[in-house]
Amino acid sequence: MEVIAHRGNTFYAPENTMAAFLSAASYNISGIELDVQWTKDGVPVVFHDEKVDRTTNGSGWIRSFTYRELRQLDAGSWFAGRFGGEKIPSLQEVLEWMKGEDITLHMEVKKPPRQFEELLDMTLGMIENHGMAHKTVVSTFYHPLLTYMAGQKRTHFQRAFLTKTPLFRGIRYLNSIQAHAIHIRHSYQAMRFYPLWAKSGIPVRAYTINREKEALRCKRLNVTSIITDDPKTMTSLFPQP
Ligand code: G3P
Ligand code: CA
Repeated sequence: MEVIAHRGNTFYAPENTMAAFLSAASYNISGIELDVQWTKDGVPVVFHDEKVDRTTNGSGWIRSFTYRELRQLDAGSWFAGRFGGEKIPSLQEVLEWMKGEDITLHMEVKKPPRQFEELLDMTLGMIENHGMAHKTVVSTFYHPLLTYMAGQKRTHFQRAFLTKTPLFRGIRYLNSIQAHAIHIRHSYQAMRFYPLWAKSGIPVRAYTINREKEALRCKRLNVTSIITDDPKTMTSLFPQP
C-alpha cells in the first residue's frame, strides 16, 4: 500500500511548506499531496485554506494577495518558533525541487475561480515544463475541472475524483467525468466500497489516515494508497518499494 504525505510531513512541520515537503521526503514515501490555489496576479501557490489567517501571520483571502505580498508572510511560526520565516511556496518552487525526486505529486486544486481554464492551462503547462506530468495526479472536489482536462487531451496527467462521501453515482459517474482514480475521505461508509472499487481496478486513495488501526483496515480492504499526516509512522508500517 502506497504512503502519500498529506500537505507534507504535517505532524512535524508546518503544512504545505518546503520544510514539510523536505521532511516528508526523508522517509520512503510514494507521493506528496499538496493544495494549489492562485494569487490575485495568477501565480499558483501551495496553500490549503481560503484565508491566510490560520497558518500565517497575515489575515484575509488568499486570492486577494499578489504573490509578492504573500511572500512577506510567515507561514511557519504558527506551528513552532523554529519554523519562523517559512514562506508560502509557489508551485514552481516545489516543482524545481520535486523534479529531482522519485515522488508522485498529488496536486489538489482548491476551489477555482469560475473562469479557471486559462489559469489551469498555465499551471499544467508549468508541470509539463518541469517534466513532471507523468508523475502528477490532479485531484479536486470541482469535477468540471477534471472533465475540462480530459477534453484538453493532457494525457500524461492522471485525474482523480475527490469526494467526502461514497454516495456519489458510482463507477458510472467516475467514468462520465473521465477520472482515473478515487480519492475519498475514510469512513465506515466508505470502507464498504473499497473492495468493490479495488475489484474494478480503480486506484483508491483514502484520506486522512493517521492511526495504525485505520491504516491496517485500509490495507485489508485493498486500498491502493493512504494519504497521511504521519509519513514517518506509516512508512515504517508499510515499507515502500
Ligand atoms: O486530498 C485529500 C485531502 O487533502 C482533501 O482534504 O481538506 O485535507 O485538503 P483537505
Ligand atoms: Ca488537500
